[in-house]
Amino acid sequence: MSVHRIREYPDPVLRGCAETVRNFDASLMDLINDMWETMKEYEGVGLAAPQIGINLQIAVVGWRDRRIVLVNPEVVDCEGEDFQEEGCLSSPGFYEKVGRPERIVVDARDEKGDPYRLDETGFLARAIMHEIDHLHGKLFFDRLSPLKRKFFKRKLEKREDK
Ligand code: NI
Repeated sequence: MSVHRIREYPDPVLRGCAETVRNFDASLMDLINDMWETMKEYEGVGLAAPQIGINLQIAVVGWRDRRIVLVNPEVVDCEGEDFQEEGCLSSPGFYEKVGRPERIVVDARDEKGDPYRLDETGFLARAIMHEIDHLHGKLFFDRLSPLKRKFFKRKLEKREDK
């Protein structure tokens, strides 16, 4: 297992559309193990493959006793809306309140390729949606109002100049 470097905004790899995983083999297992290791090292609750420069639809979410592996996830239903503060390992030190569905239903595959369905609410729903966004090239601050987003990006870019 190895810890990978986390790519930070505005790295273009974060803006790509991740490809569907087709081979559920040992190298996928290794990659997912590396993602767990990297997430733990950076003290995150979730990590998507594009954040370590890999353009595949894979994400992991670990919170309390839950360990969720999402391969090729698809949101099939969502309801409600909830605003909570959110951050991202790809924009460290920056937090903002973002709207997310209160409840989500997601179809995904696990690391072996077996399909399963998740039905989650609250924080886990938020964390899962955040990671799924990464697989579509979306970052959490894209979900802010246009004015807030502009302000937020300016703050991030100021950090880049240093
Ligand atoms: Ni993130």
